[in-house]
Amino acid sequence: QGLQRRVDAHLREYLSYKARSMKGSQDNLFSGTSTNGSIATDEGLFDQPELLPQSKAAMEKLLWRRSMQLQTEQRAWQESSEGFKMLEFRRSLPAYKEKDAILNAISQNQVVIISGETGCGKTTQIPQFILESEINSGRGATCSIICTQPRRISAMSVSERIATERGEVLGETVGYKVRLEGIKGRDTRLLFCTTGILLRRLLVDRNLKGVTHVLVDEIHERGMNEDFLLIVLKELLPRRPELRLVLMSATLDGELFSSYFGGVPLVQIPGFTHPVHTYFLEDILEKSGYRLTAENQIDDYGQDRTWKSNKQVLRKRKSQIASAVEEALGSADFREYSQQTRDSISCWNPDCIGFNLIEFLLCSMCENENPGAILVFMTGWDDISSLKDKLQAHPLLGDPARVLLLACHGSMASSEQRLIFERPEAGVRKIVLATNMAETSITIDDVVFVIDCGKAKETSYDALNNTPCLLPSWISKGSAKQRRGRAGRVQPGECYHLYPRCVFDAFADYQLPEILRTPLQSLCLQIKSLKLGSISEFLSKALQSPELLAVQNAIEYLKIIGALDESENLTVLGRYLTMLPVEPKLGKMLILGAILYCLDPILTVVAGLSVRDPFLAPLDKKDLAEAAKAQFSCDYSDHLALVRAYEGWKVAEHGLTGYEYCWKNFLSAQSMKAIDSLRREFQSLLKDTGLIDSNTPIYNTWSYDENLLRAVICYGLYPGICSVVHNEKSFSLKTMEDGQVLLHSNSVNARDTKIPYPWLVFNEKIKVNSIFLRDSTAVSDSVLLLFGGSILRGDIDGHLKMLGGYLEFFMEPALAQMYQSLRRELDELFQCK
Ligand code: CDP
Ligand code: MG
Repeated sequence: QGLQRRVDAHLREYLSYKARSMKGSQDNLFSGTSTNGSIATDEGLFDQPELLPQSKAAMEKLLWRRSMQLQTEQRAWQESSEGFKMLEFRRSLPAYKEKDAILNAISQNQVVIISGETGCGKTTQIPQFILESEINSGRGATCSIICTQPRRISAMSVSERIATERGEVLGETVGYKVRLEGIKGRDTRLLFCTTGILLRRLLVDRNLKGVTHVLVDEIHERGMNEDFLLIVLKELLPRRPELRLVLMSATLDGELFSSYFGGVPLVQIPGFTHPVHTYFLEDILEKSGYRLTAENQIDDYGQDRTWKSNKQVLRKRKSQIASAVEEALGSADFREYSQQTRDSISCWNPDCIGFNLIEFLLCSMCENENPGAILVFMTGWDDISSLKDKLQAHPLLGDPARVLLLACHGSMASSEQRLIFERPEAGVRKIVLATNMAETSITIDDVVFVIDCGKAKETSYDALNNTPCLLPSWISKGSAKQRRGRAGRVQPGECYHLYPRCVFDAFADYQLPEILRTPLQSLCLQIKSLKLGSISEFLSKALQSPELLAVQNAIEYLKIIGALDESENLTVLGRYLTMLPVEPKLGKMLILGAILYCLDPILTVVAGLSVRDPFLAPLDKKDLAEAAKAQFSCDYSDHLALVRAYEGWKVAEHGLTGYEYCWKNFLSAQSMKAIDSLRREFQSLLKDTGLIDSNTPIYNTWSYDENLLRAVICYGLYPGICSVVHNEKSFSLKTMEDGQVLLHSNSVNARDTKIPYPWLVFNEKIKVNSIFLRDSTAVSDSVLLLFGGSILRGDIDGHLKMLGGYLEFFMEPALAQMYQSLRRELDELFQCK
């Protein structure tokens, strides 16, 4: 009852808060005419230069004069000695030779598709060709070119590169805009932005007023945002006949895109790359002095059956390769990795041997081979950081006088970024550890050696079981070829694939587009907020439409969490969620955390769910690690354990002992830092929505009301919920969809034999052999009743029906009774409804 009273008070507070804040600003904000908050500031970066209120003629004169000025400046730079040198370099790029053909095609067609090898100059040259030609034809001050990039890092690095090529600094004619950051001036006519930013602009400016050219880069990646943008732009083209659309891509399924836009022209840039010597795993072993015996020869595999369909053969193969590598490298460590892999993924995983093999390869390259940078493709950020730690401890590879060891990821700081492109001092070997983002969207010029682990983290989505997974999976042949190609940019190079040729032969040709393999919830919200009509109808217009079932699941989920109402319209909550570029469940936690004034710990929870698990569990010290984690838990919640761990780290970090703290407690310092910076990012996102301002109090000590936090976590994670069924010695867990589920061994709840709560809410379930729940938080009936689902939307009946369904399903008479009485209380509580 005490809890209910508190929840009740908070809810009332929320409702009145909402009423107060919605009155004025919100209507404007949602209709897109807002002038406050940084949403408006974001969009402001796209605005035309401010014009003084003069007569039309005077204005035109002003623009004309500015255009002429730009022309003079451009010419002066190109005639200067540095500008000339730059021009020489640009002329050497394959794209430059196609300049006239490209500009011609663009002037004669509304849509043009351009493809060419990575590094041929698409991203840096084509937007520049357009800009220069506009300036030369006296439209310098009136053109507005937007070029989208799938990643922040490429938007930033490319715009900087182009500014340099034009003899300018960023913010003159060239600028960029990514989430929460950007450089643009009044004269900026060419703007690089992430695809997400352009989608957000479409939210407030459906016709892209004033924009003359839109370039969508890297369309071959088939990211969800890009596919989505293409549908929107396709619909926009007839409304804006003078708008030009250019699609750019590396290796391409050109016909697919061309026919999508009704048979538009395709310009191909013929490329040139140096030959790359390719080694597969068997070659690497041989090269390293190991001779394959008849026993472990890796040859026939895959000839008459695909490796996917025959796990047994694969397992045998796996152990053969594993022992070959193990023997070759004489590594004891290796056994650990293979054990770990056997636990997690069923098929042979190159990462497991990868760490030692990579170290071995890097060492021999540094010692023996010719100069040239080394690019290592790893599966994901977590591998990169653990490998980096391992290499840093190595006497040769960790020596900064001889090796410049860099990691490359999507959201790194610009200073860190620049190092990747710069050439190191003579005698120093540059090694860059990267994910598949270095495949096509950034070009590191001096790479001569490539090591490819063969995998990438890919989101996949099983619509039938409605379970999303982010798992390492094999890359496609196309990706492998791209990775290999990175070695042949400046001179003949070498590529080491850490998998046998037979595995390569079994790769798919291309990767499935993201829209077909990820949950569609955020996308559906975006469709709604852009007022694009019926979700399923809209998605049926995609290049490749997702399964109907996947669409229905997403819509159903959004209804359950209260983001859409029964007729698929955005609710108030849904509108807020569209303003937060995070998963809806994380968005919900942030919103409620802000409303209930417990944002500080919730920021940590949400940030923690967005990074790699900060609790490390090294196999040889599993017990110690578990004990360390247990110190942080006393309340049946992995999420709250993380909050405690973070609070402790924050104090330690302040006293400059952050690393020691992490070391002692088996925490990843990297994840802690990532959480720290994400927290700031989320906070400013919330400021964007107007839900908090600088005056909003957020708790800042470990004196939170834990039950309140449980409520907020439950609000976000619902319907990720399972019931705790106690039996004599321990308990079992059930969810409505899957029946029996298990707790992941790292969970603090897995250590107890009793959980004094009837429910657990969880962030994700993973299907390995059984279904495992990762992080979970125990919640009470009343928390679930009050905060599960769509209660804040006011749909209490639907909500109760749903919960009733749960209770009946589990046939727990005691719970059902409790539910009845709670329901009565609730009805009274919400009589005002
Ligand atoms: O987009 P695409 O892969 O076709 O190539 P790009 O990114 O336009 O790069 C063309 C060339 O510009 C590269 O091969 C590099 O030599 C150079 N470049 C550079 O030096 N610094 C950058 N930040 C980007 C490109
Ligand atoms: Mg490019």
